Amino acid sequence: MSKLVVVGQGYVGLPMAIRAAEAGFEVVGVDVHGRTVDDLNNGQSHIDDVSDAELKRALSTGYRASVDPSSISEADVVVVCVPTPLSGDGGPDLKAVVASAETIGSFLSAGTLCVLESTTYPGTTEEVFEPLVNRGRYTVGEDLFIAFSPERIDPGNKKYGVRNTPKVVGGMTQACTNRARDFYAQFVDTVVPAAGCKEAEMAKLLENTFRHVNIALVNEMVRFCNELDIDLWNAIDCAESKPFGFMAFRPGPGVGGHCIPIDPSYLSHRVKAKLGYAFRMVELAEEINHAAPDYVASRARDFLNDAGLAVNGASVLLVGVSYKPNISDRRESPADPLALRLASWGAKISYHDPLVPEWSPSGGIGSLQSVADVSEVAASSDLTIVLQEHASIDFESLAESAKRILDTKAALPRAGHIARL
Ligand SMILES: NC(=O)c1ccc[n+]([C@@H]2O[C@H](COP(=O)([O-])OP(=O)(O)OC[C@H]3O[C@@H](n4cnc5c(N)ncnc54)[C@H](O)[C@@H]3O)[C@@H](O)[C@H]2O)c1
Repeated sequence: MSKLVVVGQGYVGLPMAIRAAEAGFEVVGVDVHGRTVDDLNNGQSHIDDVSDAELKRALSTGYRASVDPSSISEADVVVVCVPTPLSGDGGPDLKAVVASAETIGSFLSAGTLCVLESTTYPGTTEEVFEPLVNRGRYTVGEDLFIAFSPERIDPGNKKYGVRNTPKVVGGMTQACTNRARDFYAQFVDTVVPAAGCKEAEMAKLLENTFRHVNIALVNEMVRFCNELDIDLWNAIDCAESKPFGFMAFRPGPGVGGHCIPIDPSYLSHRVKAKLGYAFRMVELAEEINHAAPDYVASRARDFLNDAGLAVNGASVLLVGVSYKPNISDRRESPADPLALRLASWGAKISYHDPLVPEWSPSGGIGSLQSVADVSEVAASSDLTIVLQEHASIDFESLAESAKRILDTKAALPRAGHIARL
């Protein structure tokens, strides 16, 4: 049985480790967070995409979690899925990647395939990861195999998971690419070889920059469409009927999560640092998407004003505070800056999110608890703002009972008391 170590057991590393265990690998999921490791070994998953039942099944076949990385010395393959948050200067904070690479370097044995999956700027695998892993001991492509494979997981997506999402792999040499391809092909249907590590790293940043820029496009258009009384959602539906050359993106309260608001910055930071000029598309998209929550706040203010109400003292109910539908992840959620802006104007904030029982937006709002009966609270709130379309929310009953709704996701049909963004 092939031995796999997955370093980092979060949103990316845990599903990958579980799918590999299902495919017959003996897997150790290494994580520095002792509590996470204990919970995993007790069959408690902290990730929406891995159920407790799946985890327990994997524990009884080939998976275990550990804080001890020494199993790397016997591994055939080591995959790194640790966080790469934004650092103070706008590039990726590579501390966890560096720490993982140093740890692998301490236990590495000849012949191992080491794959970096953490999102980062092109050049990281060859310039940062490989030297720390290798320490000059092995010849890459002969007795050590190094590759980058971008993670494309879409948390909460029921249609595309680890198996049926094609996986790009780019190695430092052709032999490295081949090794990585053969590894992933055991539990992923389609593996796409890249020309090298940098191309695989760039593919990920291109995908997320594409999304970021196109979301910014509609988030900018929604402002003037509102003023020109044009239904942008309907225009997008119409445009989507074109079977080629168009992909629909829809407006919303802003971008969130660990990828879209952050990854394109790695690229613009790298371009600026290496070449001295700006990646203007990304900078513009950042400006527009970053301003989206403030735009929602100004529309809420106008909506209340039209009803003769001030934001100051108004009760505002936010519906859905995670960054995307049907998941509990709140990282970089636009709900936070929106709540802070409204609270700074004197609004009294409450929220409903069936997936987020407690929420503490920073900035003096304090800790909030999700209200149990969304329709009842909407009936007594001056304004309800729909931010996410979780499938478990009864929008029909919400529309019936709410005094007024600002709908940022086109979750509800338009009505006198329901305004779209
Ligand atoms: N979450 C997503 O949807 C997503 C999608 C595509 C790519 N990515 C990328 O994948 C990478 C991982 O993201 P994530 O969402 O899984 O992060 P996460 O925060 O959910 O999980 C990371 C895990 O790594 C552990 N960790 C940190 N440093 C470690 C170390 N030195 N050794 C061992 N474990 C360590 C943490 O304790 C945590 O459990 C990031 O680069 C991210 O940008 C994430």
